[in-house]
Amino acid sequence: MEEPKEESAAFVGHVAKQQLSADEVARMRAQDTRLISEFRAMQLEKNAQKHWDLFYKRNEVRFFKDRHWTTREFEELLRSGDDSKKPRRLLEVGCGVGNLMYPLLEDDAAFEQIYACDLSPRAIEFVKSNKLYDPNKVKAFQCDVTDENCFRDVDCLVDVTTLVFVLSTIHPKKFHKVISNIWQVTSMNGIVLFRDYGRYDMAQLRFKPGHKISENFYMRQDGTRSYYFTTEEIRSLFESIGFRTVDCSYIQRRTVNLKEGIDVPRIFVQAKFTKT
Ligand SMILES: C[S@@+](CC[C@H](N)C(=O)[O-])C[C@H]1O[C@@H](n2cnc3c(N)ncnc32)[C@H](O)[C@@H]1O
Repeated sequence: MEEPKEESAAFVGHVAKQQLSADEVARMRAQDTRLISEFRAMQLEKNAQKHWDLFYKRNEVRFFKDRHWTTREFEELLRSGDDSKKPRRLLEVGCGVGNLMYPLLEDDAAFEQIYACDLSPRAIEFVKSNKLYDPNKVKAFQCDVTDENCFRDVDCLVDVTTLVFVLSTIHPKKFHKVISNIWQVTSMNGIVLFRDYGRYDMAQLRFKPGHKISENFYMRQDGTRSYYFTTEEIRSLFESIGFRTVDCSYIQRRTVNLKEGIDVPRIFVQAKFTKT
């Protein structure tokens, strides 16, 4: 449906979502009619760990599917001919219960050492109770990646860091600290592989009034939060710390669940940054 121009003027489209429909614009406007109170927003921030821990108490290891796509999208996770003899170290930030890391171990992605951290102590317990957990190779630990010195358990610089659907769960005022913490433990020529929610992803458009915390930042029913990024924001965030952008773009995928009759388009931001 064509929308009147002035209605959509506030919502600047992008290459993956050039224009919002009149219905989508109306939904975005409705979100502003009832914002989360400042007090509630502060409580959500203070209790972020509790909400994630309860999330894993409720869902255990069932919620996220194993991320088998990572080696297809990020060839840096695979060992290339050139560096076959060089030890490689991976840092998986916000690892949850290991849905990214364990498929890599199964694919023999050849990391000599993997550091995996998450805010939720319960998620880390699940990581450690996986039958593939090898303490000689994997060091899983609880930490808040917004804290100073959060990577004190990472005892050497890492070559590859993965940050997949994690930054969006963190308050925007702490994004800079997270990326700067990652910078501290990244080796020269090390790479950060990033994927997260993109602006106007269908999940953003679906939030009802009473869920919006601030611009593009929302609370889910369970108290966890989600931010929706533009490529420009991600690029300038990483570059402001000193990373060089290798690639940063919107990607369009579908979430399909045949059993539940779900097949919906999604918008993500996918990016790679190096420390040079
Ligand atoms: C959407 S889940 C993604 C999990 C995993 N990366 C994956 O792709 O399956 C977000 C994860 O980020 C973790 N997280 C949220 N805030 C964090 C923080 N400040 N420090 C470390 N981990 C955090 C949560 O506990 C949760 O496991």
